[in-house]
Amino acid sequence: MEDSLLIQTYRGTRGKRPPVWFMRQAGRYLPEYRAIREKHPMLEVIRTPELSAEVTLQPIRRFGFDAAIIFADILNPLIGMGIKLDFVEGEGPKIENPIREKSDIEALTVPPVQENVGYTLAAIEIVTAELKKTKTPLIGFAGAPFTLSSYLIDGTKADRAQGAKRFMVREPEGWRILQEKLCELVTEYLVAQVEAGASAVQLFDSWLGAVGLPEYELFVEPYLKGIIKAVKDRTKVPVVFFATNVTGIFHKLPELGADVIGVDWRLSLTQAADSIGRKAPLQGNLDPVLLTTPGEYLDLSVRRIIEEGRELPGHIFNLGHGILPSTPIEAVSRVVELVQTEGR
Ligand code: CP3
Repeated sequence: MEDSLLIQTYRGTRGKRPPVWFMRQAGRYLPEYRAIREKHPMLEVIRTPELSAEVTLQPIRRFGFDAAIIFADILNPLIGMGIKLDFVEGEGPKIENPIREKSDIEALTVPPVQENVGYTLAAIEIVTAELKKTKTPLIGFAGAPFTLSSYLIDGTKADRAQGAKRFMVREPEGWRILQEKLCELVTEYLVAQVEAGASAVQLFDSWLGAVGLPEYELFVEPYLKGIIKAVKDRTKVPVVFFATNVTGIFHKLPELGADVIGVDWRLSLTQAADSIGRKAPLQGNLDPVLLTTPGEYLDLSVRRIIEEGRELPGHIFNLGHGILPSTPIEAVSRVVELVQTEGR
């Protein structure tokens, strides 16, 4: 997949146009996804390699995206650590036994990756065999320790990750042990996904915007650096780092050592590039809400992002965050077509 548009661009070589894929491109906005979900709960889809593979391929067949992303969640790998996770209809993920104190952290185990998430590794093998035919690369992924900790401690998506932020300050030693366990889990998981066939990996730190700069430097950054370095030492694939709402720490992100940085819509691509001195290819950054309003303004926004992308060391067209369930299919086709034709 080295000569695919995605991997070339991830490595900093501009291709004939920006590659395009969308975060959460497999999901409820697709009728064929909803048909599967009507018969199978979320965790069953994730844990059944054939279903996960099928759902991963659905958006590729329909839109011809330049990359697939394996269908799983950032949270299911926590189940093997002893966490009771459920996806509650209409509410999102819920953890039944959140972490309250240091002893809860000591009880968490890091099981061998094959035993814990062998189902995702098997799905990756099915998907990559299929994607060879169209030379489409597959992206593997994992959640980053801060965002995972926020779910582990708060039990669900909490306002400003309050529990996690209180915990890191009150129980710094517990926090350190938790981060080290999560680093091991995430590193082994990402490396195993590459060994199973993934051509790139993305680390999602979706709730990182909740922390200020001093806490980022003290409680978060060292662990992110550790994971990215370990994955880069042990594999040859590009690593993408994605976080949202990180305007105040964006300038620090190149120090993490990732090949590519994801940008949400709160910064324009130009602002993001200026704040890091145009050091890395950027991935983003259409506001997913705009994708629910097909029409002239959406077209204009896509063209603006394509134009800003021309001034970067590389640009991968994506959304600023995951696609919304209310997104019309026509809007997705329209954006892909615009990038394919006008990105040249
Ligand atoms: O991008 C993809 O297509 C790959 C699959 C993927 C999912 N979750 C599937 C999913 C990926 C990469 C994720 C990552 C994820 N999961 C993140 C990081 C990225 C982000 O969006 O911030 C986070 C924070 C989660 C946790 C999570 N999982 C939430 C908050 C929710 C509920 C939100 C919702 O839309 O219901 C989930 C459930 C989830 N994960 C769904 C999908 C398709 C919806 C489940 C369903 O079918 O009902």
